[in-house]
Amino acid sequence: NNYVVIMAGGVGTRFWPFSRTNNPKQFHDVLGTGRTLLQQTADRFEDICPKENIYIVTSSDYIGLIKEQLPFLSDSQILAEPSRRNTAPCVAYACYKIATQNPEANVVVAPADHIILKEKEFEKRINLALEASAKDDILVTLGITPTRPDTGYGYIQYEKSNDDVKKVKTFREKPNLELAKLFVTSGEYVWNAGIFIWNAQAIKKAFATNSPKLHDIFCAGESAYFTEKEGDFINEVYQTCESISIDYAVMEKADNVHIVLGDIGWSDLGTWKSLYEVSEKDENENVIDGSTMLYGVTNSIIKTPKDRLVVVQGLDGYIIAEYDNVLMICEKEQEQFVKNFVADAGKKD
Ligand code: GDD
Ligand code: MG
Repeated sequence: NNYVVIMAGGVGTRFWPFSRTNNPKQFHDVLGTGRTLLQQTADRFEDICPKENIYIVTSSDYIGLIKEQLPFLSDSQILAEPSRRNTAPCVAYACYKIATQNPEANVVVAPADHIILKEKEFEKRINLALEASAKDDILVTLGITPTRPDTGYGYIQYEKSNDDVKKVKTFREKPNLELAKLFVTSGEYVWNAGIFIWNAQAIKKAFATNSPKLHDIFCAGESAYFTEKEGDFINEVYQTCESISIDYAVMEKADNVHIVLGDIGWSDLGTWKSLYEVSEKDENENVIDGSTMLYGVTNSIIKTPKDRLVVVQGLDGYIIAEYDNVLMICEKEQEQFVKNFVADAGKKD
């Protein structure tokens, strides 16, 4: 009864110029392992669910890329969205579709762009969550010990207990910096890893209660899923869907959220700095993927095409990234500017 839904429709703009609208980061071999982030995500579930129960939700623009990278998928396992509506509609579409095929499905919903270094630990946590969600109508998420007051994450306060699956007191999505600092220093909060586990009926009930419009919209598709009417149905209803994340639409409001904690070597490869942090460094604390000649360069990340020799002198703490027709050089500590670069570059073409 186990299913996996991989959300792969984001554009990952903070990873520009590597991540581009026509080829976002989940389709890249970011870590240089020979597998893209999407492929690594699918590989991770090998022993958790059969291949025919893996569903990918993505923008219709990326169908070609997905088929290329995961050739085992059949057409009905690739859910095409006509436009970006964030993760709540994406989750509802996939879970409501799966529920029509198997009302007893247990579903893991996972982002396509994370890295998880401790595969065995991850599998253990997922199996614990799957067992619990098969028994009860609960919404389970994975919790990660926070290392900094990052405002890009959800923060979760839970009831201390010896149970593997703990009850959540509060779920706060993307707090401001002041709150994030409070949460981290309190020691009572963990980050939401953005990987969710529930049975199909539990998530339907959660939508019905907390986001009834989305519930009605995707319930109405029950006779269309897995038929030739599915595409038209989705194209039509997506026009009316609110753009909202599952965190705001459901997780913050629901009162049956649970959490499984654990060190799984998790990282959301959201930004250049996060890639720098998880990558292997040389004796000058540089992360290098490319052909380089460096003189007095330290604490930097350089990711450039192999056939281009990059010569750099005297930089400390920089991101130097080239992809396609863009070269970006930016202070590592100022990477929040990347989103401005993307916006301004968009105006140029
Ligand atoms: N299909 C589809 N459609 N996928 C989408 C869409 C969409 O419209 N928007 C985003 N995604 C995919 C992204 O590609 C990513 O894999 C995943 O859904 C999560 O979206 P993000 O936009 O990366 O979310 P976030 O990082 O800001 O926040 C979420 O993840 C954090 C951990 O990484 C939240 O769940 C936070 O609470 C959490 O801490
Ligand atoms: Mg993310």
